[in-house]
Amino acid sequence: FSHNMNSLNPFKLVAEELSGIAKSFEEAVAVNHPVLQRAASYFLNITGKRFRPTVVILMAYAVNASNSNLMDSTNSRVSHESPSVKSSPHILPSQLKLAEITELIHVASLLHDDVIDVADTRRGVKSVNALFGNQLSVLAGDFLLSRASVSLARLRNCDVVEMLSTVIEHLVHGEVLQMTVDEGNSNDKLEVYLQKTFLKTASLIANSCQAVALLSNCPKEIVKVAFEYGRHLGLAYQLMDDALDFTGSSTSLGKPALADIHQGTLTAPVLFAMEQYPEIRDYAKRRFQRPDDISKTLLAIENSKGIERTVDLAKEHCYLAKEGIQQTLQDTSYRQALLEMADFVVTRKQ
Ligand code: FPP
Ligand code: MG
Ligand code: MG
Repeated sequence: FSHNMNSLNPFKLVAEELSGIAKSFEEAVAVNHPVLQRAASYFLNITGKRFRPTVVILMAYAVNASNSNLMDSTNSRVSHESPSVKSSPHILPSQLKLAEITELIHVASLLHDDVIDVADTRRGVKSVNALFGNQLSVLAGDFLLSRASVSLARLRNCDVVEMLSTVIEHLVHGEVLQMTVDEGNSNDKLEVYLQKTFLKTASLIANSCQAVALLSNCPKEIVKVAFEYGRHLGLAYQLMDDALDFTGSSTSLGKPALADIHQGTLTAPVLFAMEQYPEIRDYAKRRFQRPDDISKTLLAIENSKGIERTVDLAKEHCYLAKEGIQQTLQDTSYRQALLEMADFVVTRKQ
């Protein structure tokens, strides 16, 4: 994070909360089996950007500031000042817990994902499947999901439980959509790609943002705005991820580059190239298995500005994410940080 004096670093703004969460993970994944313990806590200790918990914490503060009838789960007022008195920023324990649950579900999905993608690195280190084997990686993912479910239940809010449970279905559905070539060739359509992208990436962020707004007991409009911010941010995030898969190196990304096309997965840069070079459809149908399929597709992406168009689409979603909260949420440093976060998503290199 570089920048001028007016901008703030969203990650620094919530550094204290993030380290609180890191401590809390120890308890969340404590289990009386050393191997399961190590496999499950591996990516909780080797942290990534902590993008998701940062967004959730910022959203919690931002909606709480915009919500004059903030109640905690026992319906007692959290802030005792009158609305005219500017109260100090606050976050509910349940909202912090939600940020933790979001990261648990995310890491669980990564442990499964690296098995499916046969990926041997992540976050610049060996993947859990590479270190402990596929079976343990799957089981450690299941274990994290189970602990996330217990934490979720303890929030005693059925709507929030329903939202985050639906996310787990979405992750599975998105992943299955991605790995199957369906008969109608609908995988070729940008619309289907975007739907898949919502399911595999944006749903977790959208529903987590929505859930913290719900925990704040916000008016319906704000709950909706929180969801839409997360949805657009998540779409922008994955679009950039799919562009970086082509433009980044394995070193800069900390995970294998060109992974999608090697997996036979159609992402936005390829779909854009396809509009100009229809022969890519044939390569895609055989999942880029023949010797020159990949090199020809890479050339077509370059000639068709597939990467630029993907980044442009990401920027559009970044804009929509920002617009919604700017019109609705109170102007606070947390709202400002959410805006910065959207810019970070479309400028990041890893
Ligand atoms: C990363 O995508 C993976 C996901 C966003 C979701 C993966 C979901 C599953 C494996 C379904 C099962 C999950 C659960 C929790 C039951 P990617 O492979 O495009 O990104 P990468 O480059 O980071 O690997
Ligand atoms: Mg993967
Ligand atoms: Mg994957």
